[in-house]
Amino acid sequence: MERFYVTTPIYYVNAEPHIGHAYTTIVTDVMNRFHKLMGHETFFLTGTDEHGDKIAQAAQEAGVEPKAYADRISALFRDTWPGLGITNDKFIRTTDAEHIRIVQYVLQKVYDAGEIYFSSYKGLYCVGCERFYTERELVDGKCPDHNRPPVEREEANYFFRMSKYQDWLIRYLEEHPDCIRPERYKNEVLAFLREPLEDLCISRPVERLSWGIPLPFDKRYVTYVWFDALINYVSALGYPDGELFHKFWPAVRHVIAKDILKPHGIYWPTMLQAAGIPMYRNLNVHGYWTSDEGKMSKSHGTVVKPLDMIPAYGLDAFRYFLLREMVFGLDANFSQDALVQRINADLANDLGNLFSRTLAMTEKYFAGTIPPFGSEPDAMDRDLKGKTDEAVAQFSAEIPRLGFHKALIAIWECIGAANKYIDYVGPWTLAREENLKPRLQTVMRTLLEVNRTVAVLVAPFMPATSEKMLERLGVPKKALDLRLSEDTRWGGLKEGDAVSKGEALFPRIDAASGKKAEKADKPAAKKAPEKAAKSAPKAPEPVAPAEAIDIEAFRQIDLRIGRIESAERVPKSEKLVKLMVDIGEKRQVVAGIAKSYSPEELVGKQVVIVANLKPAKLMGVESHGMVLAVRDGEGLKLLVPEQDVTPGGKIS
Ligand code: ME8
Repeated sequence: MERFYVTTPIYYVNAEPHIGHAYTTIVTDVMNRFHKLMGHETFFLTGTDEHGDKIAQAAQEAGVEPKAYADRISALFRDTWPGLGITNDKFIRTTDAEHIRIVQYVLQKVYDAGEIYFSSYKGLYCVGCERFYTERELVDGKCPDHNRPPVEREEANYFFRMSKYQDWLIRYLEEHPDCIRPERYKNEVLAFLREPLEDLCISRPVERLSWGIPLPFDKRYVTYVWFDALINYVSALGYPDGELFHKFWPAVRHVIAKDILKPHGIYWPTMLQAAGIPMYRNLNVHGYWTSDEGKMSKSHGTVVKPLDMIPAYGLDAFRYFLLREMVFGLDANFSQDALVQRINADLANDLGNLFSRTLAMTEKYFAGTIPPFGSEPDAMDRDLKGKTDEAVAQFSAEIPRLGFHKALIAIWECIGAANKYIDYVGPWTLAREENLKPRLQTVMRTLLEVNRTVAVLVAPFMPATSEKMLERLGVPKKALDLRLSEDTRWGGLKEGDAVSKGEALFPRIDAASGKKAEKADKPAAKKAPEKAAKSAPKAPEPVAPAEAIDIEAFRQIDLRIGRIESAERVPKSEKLVKLMVDIGEKRQVVAGIAKSYSPEELVGKQVVIVANLKPAKLMGVESHGMVLAVRDGEGLKLLVPEQDVTPGGKIS
């Protein structure tokens, strides 16, 4: 069985968890869940980094002992992760006795091999980063991360012969081009390695820093931050004899942001080599979350706390947003507006509507049970199945190469295709004729199968949504028990099993208030459209030719393509339906089409809107535009574009 060990950085306990930590931990969780879905054996490690100047300083400021301070903040991290759906197998602390013992074991081993020596060193030191800087690394004489000049320091210390491994590392990275990903970061490390590599200072005298791990060969010194922290990745597995170590090393994938590329891309490989531990499988480096003010960090005062987001937007929406918005490796900007937009467009509209329309129609046409495939699938059905297979293939290919946003795009292409399929096939028209029932069965079964596959594909990103969808589709399963090949097998739903529509998966968020819009995305009304159409069998009225107008007069009418996002009947009215239409902006429009269309049929349809009509009130409901329709014998027919177009497109 393939094994997969994945780690996040261990976070400093000098600040509370914020969205940057949340992203790393969630993206690592998505990788872990993906590999479980593929049937691999996995181990997921996260934890906290608790020694060093920074922590000692933060504790002093808080007026407590470093250990008490570390206990408190470490618990904050540990308790944040379950709330974000994180499935870590272990939470390591660098103050754990076992970790301390293993750090000392590795130090002794490397010392005995002659790779650690004692010497005096003078250099430029950034307290924020807890390391010496070379002149070349500074920007305008300042630490690029803390924007402060480093201080000059001289001290006698222990050094690790890192320079000795420079050529080995260059060769290794050239021979293993996928070892540091994306490629730009491998290139950055190789660029570093073009300059002579200096030896690494690994100790601090106890009188200057007592909050660290004593060197086993000289108790007057404690180890310097990286020789302690990086070793967590093997100490957590019980190196050198632990069963976990034998099982999962070196099948390890580290996930970090670019701030700690150098320690992970240079110090760690050379430390492993010196200690005789095989090199890690790969290092996966992402960019920064920024807010409009720059990199999100406590020192900049621009922190978004992850748990603060959840009550307003929901955990799955938050996880989806982070993974959809950031291209792994590049920076991304966090804004609540962008989050709300994604929730409304991708989750409430695309996914939510597909799911609720499919189940509503299954309830209506098949008493809420899974129909068999009836007639032979036609080209359109095969096409939609092909798009679904393509989504599975893309998903499987993209996640291992860090294309999380591309995996989501592929899933959403399938969702979009299924929504179009509904609009195009119009199951409600098939439902009108008894002899079309076998066709209706195939159409609805096809849609149900697509929804099931989508539910499985979203599982690593949105586990709770996946479980909710599968349960309502009559195939309940825990997200962590899913297996991709088995659970996306086409035709895997069972004929006759009950489905239930339930509440909307994602309530729409009101952009202005940021709150869930209660009535929006409401489940469709019950009344069948065909009955309504039959009760209004009006012959078309002869139309008198209108007076000719010139082109300017026509141009004054602002006609636009819109997409109906939600529809509900206007209370006490037989004719009116209230629509929320996306015409590049959101518009509430009241239309007199309720006798010809049920709200569920309308959602997702593209329509033509007169966008510059003066607002009017119909049965007390404001309307900001008009939907174009034409009357024929059966009632009213909407004017729709021949192909799907971007909402807001102006008609000329
Ligand atoms: O560096 N955008 O801990 P740390 C994206 N203890 N990710 C961010 C981020 C942002 N704005 N801010 C933080 C340390 N992160 C060491 C690591 S590992 C052996 C020792 C995330 O608390 C990102 O993963 O400063 C980054 O690499 C990490 O937090 C830094 O966490």
